[in-house]
Amino acid sequence: MPYGKGPWVGPVEEGTKAFCACGESSDKPYCDGSHHRLGTGKTPCVYEITEKKNYAICQCGTSRTPPLCDGSHKTLS
Ligand code: FES
Repeated sequence: MPYGKGPWVGPVEEGTKAFCACGESSDKPYCDGSHHRLGTGKTPCVYEITEKKNYAICQCGTSRTPPLCDGSHKTLS
């Protein structure tokens, strides 16, 4: 499934996470290896979560602060 428009919002546990950056994962916001299987040419955004809380994770692919949403999806048509 390609990118959606809004961010994924929900709780993320502490630790090193691999967030999907290709839009094809079936386990969003996390990478499930689909980028490799489908040959997207993209790799996951590896990010250290230091505090368990709710996060807004970019699902549109345009955030300037990946994997965190920066509101850039609001400018998409
Ligand atoms: S499945 Fe999208 S980056 Fe791995």
